[in-house]
Amino acid sequence: MRTKDIGRLSHKEREILSHLDAKRLPHHIAVIMDGNGRWAKKRHLPRIAGHKRGVEAVRSVATTAANIGIPSLTLYAFSVENWKRRPKTEVTFLMTLLKTYLKQEVSTFNDNNIRLEYIGRIHELPLDVQQVMNWAKDATSQNTGMVMTLALNYGSRSELADAFNAIVEAAANNGGLEHLRKKAIDEETIGKYLYTSHLPDPDLVIRTSGEMRLSNFLLWQLAYAEIYVTETLWPDFDGKHLLTAIADFQKRERRFGGLVEKAEHSA
Ligand code: IPE
Ligand code: IPE
Ligand code: MG
Repeated sequence: MRTKDIGRLSHKEREILSHLDAKRLPHHIAVIMDGNGRWAKKRHLPRIAGHKRGVEAVRSVATTAANIGIPSLTLYAFSVENWKRRPKTEVTFLMTLLKTYLKQEVSTFNDNNIRLEYIGRIHELPLDVQQVMNWAKDATSQNTGMVMTLALNYGSRSELADAFNAIVEAAANNGGLEHLRKKAIDEETIGKYLYTSHLPDPDLVIRTSGEMRLSNFLLWQLAYAEIYVTETLWPDFDGKHLLTAIADFQKRERRFGGLVEKAEHSA
């Protein structure tokens, strides 16, 4: 952790940080950002007001995570189910919000040395959204700090289906299906074909708004992640809440099926 970066934290954040073990920070935090609609409803506002406010929570969490030295942060922004099952007006608003967010946030990413990545069926998103996404990704590609991955039109089952299809295709190009039958597909092979092949598995997954489910998020990768659920709704979540979740993570005994805590990272 560089002093310069910690200097960017608020007083309260530094206070929580002082109780953390800097050597045992999570390597990869995954977040299911839930509760925007309920946040708005509580205030008699339209659901979209919750999504708008959620963007501020993203900024706070991303900058705090980057400044304390978390290598990877993955945020579940829209699921494949959200696209299919939500009213068109809400989906269209979310698209517009994403474009606005990326355009305005690139300077924050660059200030905090954050590199942007995406996972999901990105090619199914509208072209204008893809263009802004590519622009923002390119504009942050030189950053060497935290990798922040946005899961957009993401579904874990589609990811696995895409991976299996890619494995079959690779085998077909490399001697036909006969070759595939002989080739042992092991866990490492599957991992290599997932959208997240370049990332370690998350060691901590946070879900806001009290829901106790994974909602089709990183089912393979979260196999041994510590799960932290908070009643706090996503628009109310911030860097302080993130540090509190990390403090909770550091109290857990990670056993990975064994009997004693394993000190080193699993991935
Ligand atoms: C999370 O908030 C954001 C997205 C899924 C896009 P929700 O929109 O799911 O909010 P709730 O769960 O209805 O409160
Ligand atoms: C999960 O939230 C997806 C995202 C946060 C993007 P949902 O609100 O869509 O999940 P369910 O419907 O409550 O399972
Ligand atoms: Mg929800």
